[in-house]
Amino acid sequence: MLKGKKIILGITGGIAAYKSAELCRRLKKSGAEVQVIMTQSGMKFITPLTMECLSEKEVITEMFPERRMVGTRHISLAQWADLVLVAPATYNLIGKISCGIADDILTTVISSTKAPVFFAPAMNVNMYENPICQQNIEKLRKLGYRFIEPGVGDLACGDVGKGRMAEPEEILNEVIKLLDEKKDLTGKSILVTASRTEEPIDAVRFLSNRSTGRMGYAVAEEAFKRGAKVTLISGPSDLNCSSGINLVKVRTADEMYKAVKKHFAKSDALVMTAAVSDFAPEKLSSGKLKKQETELSLNLKQTPDILREMGKQKGKKVLVGFAVETKDEIQNAKSKLKEKNLDLIIVNNPNLKGAGFEVDTNIATLIDRKGKAERLPLMSKKELAEKIIDRMVKLLKR
Ligand SMILES: Cc1cc2nc3c(=O)[nH]c(=O)nc-3n(C[C@H](O)[C@H](O)[C@H](O)COP(=O)(O)O)c2cc1C
Repeated sequence: MLKGKKIILGITGGIAAYKSAELCRRLKKSGAEVQVIMTQSGMKFITPLTMECLSEKEVITEMFPERRMVGTRHISLAQWADLVLVAPATYNLIGKISCGIADDILTTVISSTKAPVFFAPAMNVNMYENPICQQNIEKLRKLGYRFIEPGVGDLACGDVGKGRMAEPEEILNEVIKLLDEKKDLTGKSILVTASRTEEPIDAVRFLSNRSTGRMGYAVAEEAFKRGAKVTLISGPSDLNCSSGINLVKVRTADEMYKAVKKHFAKSDALVMTAAVSDFAPEKLSSGKLKKQETELSLNLKQTPDILREMGKQKGKKVLVGFAVETKDEIQNAKSKLKEKNLDLIIVNNPNLKGAGFEVDTNIATLIDRKGKAERLPLMSKKELAEKIIDRMVKLLKR
């Protein structure tokens, strides 16, 4: 099941390190090539000799080995791996990665790899529930690192609670699941826009809308997970994305237009989820506008129509747009698809419960160039992202 897969197994200083021997044996038995890296504390719990016998490879423990290696070993290891699995992952290791610390060979490899990284935490319940640890896990999850939940039960220290490392069999199943994920966008470059734009009125005010970026970030993550090279052009948003995604931050519609133009030529597909402001103040007032005795009028100008412009130079690229409509949704979306030369349009009505901005779900209809509409039920934006990427894969094969 793991034939040909290259896995780095990181072992850190926790009692559960004894389970890593069994885990290594199972990974090998499933066909994986396993390179073990142990921290100095890890070696206090289980010997490199045991891991060497099971992995059939010399165990790596030093950043600066006495016998100097040629080149930068941490980079070649990071590039070699299809997956980095840290089991057990200590409180300390999780904290270090979350803070960007790379002070030994394991943390340095993790910091420099583009491969998925899996942590199997194992620690005392108070350490696991410590808000610092929980915040670190949350932060890393948002950055695309994955965690195999520890179990609840008797811990080695005598306490009872959550913190026991998942069993080797469960970890193996998770690894197989992850490495089995569809990689149907390998070799493709996907450009995604997300969130809103902000059009300044004066030094402190702007015109904008309620888009948070959740839909666009979900599309970017899904494309990335399925092997694409992803550039995400995002307006202001509080969201984080996987470190392997090329995130380009912009603020105004003009900035978004320039960024899309710059990356469009090298892309195979563009998914425009961003809610770009249609209008911007004609001129930016210097400083802060003073309170007026009388009414204030703002002159607005049209912002660039990014989708229309990209539609004109689309060629064989796949163009996917979004439409927010509160009336005659299907008809309006079909017109927009035609006008802007799109391949697929996703329309939703934000007035429906569970759809639109500031929620994790959506109710959408997918319409293709032939006018065929697929109405989808209420689903998470992640699930909708999967559906959109499924369609995109088919369109890219035309
Ligand atoms: C007997 C013993 C057991 C330990 N078990 C754990 C553990 O299960 N989880 C953990 O996070 N730390 C545990 N620690 C503490 C770590 O070994 C310590 O924080 C160390 O600095 C971790 O280093 P590393 O993350 O580089 O491997 C234990 C320490 C001792 C002495």
